[in-house]
Amino acid sequence: MVKKFELNISKGSIDAIVIGGNGGIGNALVKKLSQLQEINSVYCCSRKEPNGLPSKANWIPFDITSEDSIIAASQNIMRQSQNVRLIIIASGILYDKDANMPEKSLKDINADYFFEVFKINTLGPILTAKHFTSIFEKQDKTIMCILSARVGSIEDNNLGGWYSYRSSKSAVNMMAKTLSIEMKRKNKDSITALIHPGTVDTGLSKPFQSSVAKDKLFTTEKAAESILSVIGGWNNESNGGFFAWDGQIIPF
Ligand SMILES: NC(=O)c1ccc[n+]([C@@H]2O[C@H](COP(=O)([O-])OP(=O)(O)OC[C@H]3O[C@@H](n4cnc5c(N)ncnc54)[C@H](OP(=O)(O)O)[C@@H]3O)[C@@H](O)[C@H]2O)c1
Repeated sequence: MVKKFELNISKGSIDAIVIGGNGGIGNALVKKLSQLQEINSVYCCSRKEPNGLPSKANWIPFDITSEDSIIAASQNIMRQSQNVRLIIIASGILYDKDANMPEKSLKDINADYFFEVFKINTLGPILTAKHFTSIFEKQDKTIMCILSARVGSIEDNNLGGWYSYRSSKSAVNMMAKTLSIEMKRKNKDSITALIHPGTVDTGLSKPFQSSVAKDKLFTTEKAAESILSVIGGWNNESNGGFFAWDGQIIPF
């Protein structure tokens, strides 16, 4: 049975966009959003069309590493909808297809891998914001949620390692904070904020799951529910914040 989520964005029905809609968490978000009464359409942005999209979901070709692709996708959605109020960016990498893994120490730093991680985890969300926030123009309450990671918290870093991933997430945190200020100047009811989804059973976390306690490894469905329930609790004071899956504030 689907829990009723109060997204608390608008009294009528709205459209939503999920960037990275073919990833573990992104795809679960597309499905969960499609089950909400208050959602009319979900635009699922991904490189490949996911199998089994719900009827409310529309696939939009999208590659976060290409600004041309980001522009084309934003124009495509603007032609179809004037009612997007929610954008969730759920793209990201921790290791790559060439088996570059997160660094255990300085000697593991590889410049190509470092730039690749930044291109997808940091530059990608900034370019997406550059071209997608115009979709929000003329709307009242709008929400931009960017998936970050607790390991991007500088204050919370007690373990070290994972130089590229940690830094890319610290940088995306700064980007989102800056964006939250700019968006607020344009629209006093806009909210831009970050969520750490917890450790979630997806391809991204697969190689690192053995050290995670069973009850701390969330299904993608649970992660999507948590994310939507945190978003549902946001108000103007949440703008620029960094939140965990349970709504707790994470220090930057
Ligand atoms: N899983 C966890 O435990 C965990 C923990 C903390 C934070 N997060 C964050 O949550 C977000 C979603 O992660 P996930 O666990 O759902 O990961 P995932 O299943 O591996 O999905 C990764 C997403 O990133 C996109 N992506 C990956 N490589 C790409 C590339 N080379 N070029 C373009 N796009 C690429 C994919 O896009 P397509 O949709 O186009 O395939 C996909 O949507 C990420 O920002 C991650 O850092 C996850």
